[in-house]
Amino acid sequence: MNAGEPTTADGRESLRDRALDALTVARERTALLTSCVDDGELTAQHSPLMSPLVWDLAHIGNQEEQWLWRAVAGQEALRPEIDSLYDAFEHPRATRPTLPLLPPDEARAYAADVRTRVLDVLASTPLTGRPLLDEGFAFGMIAQHEQQHDETMLITHQLRRGPAALTAPPPPATHTGGPLPTEVLVPGGPFTMGTSDEPWALDNERPAHTTLVPAFCIDTVPVTNGSYMAFLADGGYTERRWWRPEGWAQIREHGIVAPLFWHRDGGQWLRRRFGVTEPVPEEEPVLHVSWYEADAYARWAGRRLPTEAEWEKAARHDPASGRSRRYPWGDADPGPEHANLGQRHLRPAPAGSYPAGASPLGVRQLIGDVWEWTASDFLPYPGFTAFPYKEYSEVFFGPAHKVLRGGSFAVDPVACRGTFRNWDLPVRRQIFSGFRTARSAELD
Ligand code: AVJ
Ligand code: FE
Repeated sequence: MNAGEPTTADGRESLRDRALDALTVARERTALLTSCVDDGELTAQHSPLMSPLVWDLAHIGNQEEQWLWRAVAGQEALRPEIDSLYDAFEHPRATRPTLPLLPPDEARAYAADVRTRVLDVLASTPLTGRPLLDEGFAFGMIAQHEQQHDETMLITHQLRRGPAALTAPPPPATHTGGPLPTEVLVPGGPFTMGTSDEPWALDNERPAHTTLVPAFCIDTVPVTNGSYMAFLADGGYTERRWWRPEGWAQIREHGIVAPLFWHRDGGQWLRRRFGVTEPVPEEEPVLHVSWYEADAYARWAGRRLPTEAEWEKAARHDPASGRSRRYPWGDADPGPEHANLGQRHLRPAPAGSYPAGASPLGVRQLIGDVWEWTASDFLPYPGFTAFPYKEYSEVFFGPAHKVLRGGSFAVDPVACRGTFRNWDLPVRRQIFSGFRTARSAELD
């Protein structure tokens, strides 16, 4: 800790210590994800949907160099000739394996060199006076960026064929009480959506604004594999009436009959998970479904996906105080008792887990386990301004992308909040995506 910068009054560490910690935790995860396979696997294309792992590694270092070494510290580019190789907009993922990328040892050395310089910058720069520096924002942004790519790299590991390279213990059994109600009624009325005072919230989460959300019911837990199997058994993938035309076209064209990584073996469903084939556990939230699959299931179930505003109200609105909180359980940072986050476990926890992470109305597992598709397009909030660059959020706004909320087992707490917004194309299913359903409350 820096002299004269004590732990804050509420017992939290200073923002400088939080930034140092967040950057360190991210780099430990990056190191694990890029050292558990050999150099051939780091440079290989495991899927045209993903970059080679060695691209993510150097891109992490390059973004850190651009924002913390150049923009924050005002220093010259370390290797200007590589910037365009690691610009995500110049090269689509499918073509990145053909680029003259830094080989693994050079990529590692480059990222490490940037980090050494950045830690000096962090120790010596006042975290105030410029929007980029206020409350350590740029450092928090870069720690989140690295963790987002750590989730991306974990997806690449999941797509990779061959024996397991990563293992982790299963989530602890925390669902001890009796059966839970299937849904929870969230009363109608205004609530505060988004944030203006969370120091490291990204531009698309801002500003806080009042939104009117009529009464609705939302599933207590995410939709499970067992429930999803009932949809399959009922001919869900062969009946056009459940599907949006684009979703129907996708499953027909690609012969999709079940979530990604599932296959039928005799009488049972098996799945491949990080190199291991295992029976699909019925009590776990369903994973690796597209927005179209989630939408079709909800229609089959006589329900619908929650809107993004409904999801956030279920997660943040405290009916007792009328206030929106940081997380379903309150304002405390996520701990291992609240949610399955941070790649501690390489799978979702059984539905009903983490009672300590429930919302005041009793909705569980909103944070962690699986990203939850919402009905909503990715759009700016009223008063949005792009910060610090248009290519983080603004260029993705519009009807092409659907919003996902809540984070998966693969995302670190630094990149997961009640206000955090993720987005993807509705056809995507390699991501750690699941969903829960909702319905409008009856008017009587
Ligand atoms: C917010 C997860 C959609 O990975 O495309 C990483 C995050 N932006 N580098 C993505 C991101 C720039 C982004 N998502
Ligand atoms: Fe990136």
